[in-house]
Amino acid sequence: MEEKILIIDFGGQYNQLIARRVREKNVYSEVHPYTISIEKIKEFNPKGIIFTGGPASIYTEDAPKCDIEIFKLGIPILGICYGMQFMADSLGGVVKRASFREYGEMEVDLNTKSRLFQGLNSKNICLMSHTDYVSELPNNFEVITSTKSCQIAGFENKEKNFYGVQFHPEVNHTVDGDKIIENFVKNICNTKGLWQMKEFAKQKIEELKEKIGDKKVLCALSGGVDSSVAASMLAKAVGSNLTCIFVDHGLLRKGEVEEVLKNFANRSDVNFIKVDAKDRFLEKLKGVTDPEKKRKIIGEEFIRVFESEAKKLGVVDYLVQGTIYPDVIESGLGKSSVIKSHHNVGGLPAHVDFKEIIEPLRDLFKDEVRKVGIELGLSFDLVNRQPFPGPGLAIRIIGDITEEKLNILKEADYILREEIQNNNLDKDINQYFAVLTNIKSVGVMGDERTYDYLLALRAVETDDFMTAKFSKIPYDILETISKRIVNEVGHINRIVYDITSKPPATIEWE
Ligand code: XMP
Repeated sequence: MEEKILIIDFGGQYNQLIARRVREKNVYSEVHPYTISIEKIKEFNPKGIIFTGGPASIYTEDAPKCDIEIFKLGIPILGICYGMQFMADSLGGVVKRASFREYGEMEVDLNTKSRLFQGLNSKNICLMSHTDYVSELPNNFEVITSTKSCQIAGFENKEKNFYGVQFHPEVNHTVDGDKIIENFVKNICNTKGLWQMKEFAKQKIEELKEKIGDKKVLCALSGGVDSSVAASMLAKAVGSNLTCIFVDHGLLRKGEVEEVLKNFANRSDVNFIKVDAKDRFLEKLKGVTDPEKKRKIIGEEFIRVFESEAKKLGVVDYLVQGTIYPDVIESGLGKSSVIKSHHNVGGLPAHVDFKEIIEPLRDLFKDEVRKVGIELGLSFDLVNRQPFPGPGLAIRIIGDITEEKLNILKEADYILREEIQNNNLDKDINQYFAVLTNIKSVGVMGDERTYDYLLALRAVETDDFMTAKFSKIPYDILETISKRIVNEVGHINRIVYDITSKPPATIEWE
């Protein structure tokens, strides 16, 4: 791989997002901790380096710093937020604490003569999130952007190709952020942008081959996009040493088991085992109402099923999961706070009976995983399936889970999916499902009073499932869905449509 950008991680929230933005420019990038040695950096041989943001203050004793020899390598560097402050501090500038925190979308004046801002509007909007700021420039640096309250919101040393911005170009709130990253990666670092997702797949498969050798591997296959892509990678890496386990925990949608069997049961390159585990999952979930408890129980139960299946196969060292990056951040690993414990990350038990859990897609976003799937030759329908969470309908039934509620939800959800597909809305809506709430309300049917469940419909449009907008489904289609569900499924007498986006809501209700 010729052209690479090295991202040095100082603990910010958006680090993988920076890597993703670089990959979007068709240049390979990797995120490494700030402790990376100069030898390692030389070996990596990057065309450019990006310092990420981070929560620390550079003037504190334990502030994270990387080896300042990095500034002598002759490689272009872009410092973002804390990364800019680290650059300033290392090269003789001064960083101070501001009297107030500048947070949110701010107007900035960009000097469009700088190569970093070439082709942009000089009046622009950027996302700021900082308390510290660069108060004095290092020698040979010039200011290239400022806001009303931050004089040095960006700087450059043209000769050395060092750049710094106090704002975050990697997030969508920075209107021309993408173009700034492109200017750095393409023009300043002088890359051609020839890298493609298939290289990621190729490289990962090689790494997996080397790591696993002739050991046995179990892959947790849910039939969704992520685990199907992970399984296909592993099948290419270790062939028949791979066994895929599909656990039917009884919390799947109507028709799901059949679909997974159709896609995987007869593949010649995959050893496939289906485990019927409905009773043990429902038993463990009996009476449980707390969403995080449900997630943890399901996460643990999955592992226990995998462990007992592994025992039947002899020695199995590795368990493969299709964990992707949003699962990791939302589960609160690293420094971010727990939004929800994804069953395959935060929901894992403390002790796991495998030598290691392998997650080849852990750094990728959903849409990137789909691209890898296409490169691996998976069918269009499979790759473009809407996501279905590992804990399944357990987190779409608010309150305790019973077989009766499961059956009601399965039927209602099936009708919703059928109508969305029949009306060709599935091309635009990225995820759609029904939620059985724990509320009962009064209705009237055939002159009789009813007292039945309230069902919520959810449909969102999103690229990466980290943020999402509710979908504006036409009223007449909503009306058909509502009528059909009330008429065809028993015990639902009222239907509402969820019109919140993410944030402030999440996509799933639990
Ligand atoms: P939220 O509800 O957090 O969901 O906005 C974001 C995306 O992640 C899916 N999701 C999960 N997927 N295990 C998974 O495999 C989980 O525990 C889990 N929880 C949420 C959700 O369906 C949406 O696509």
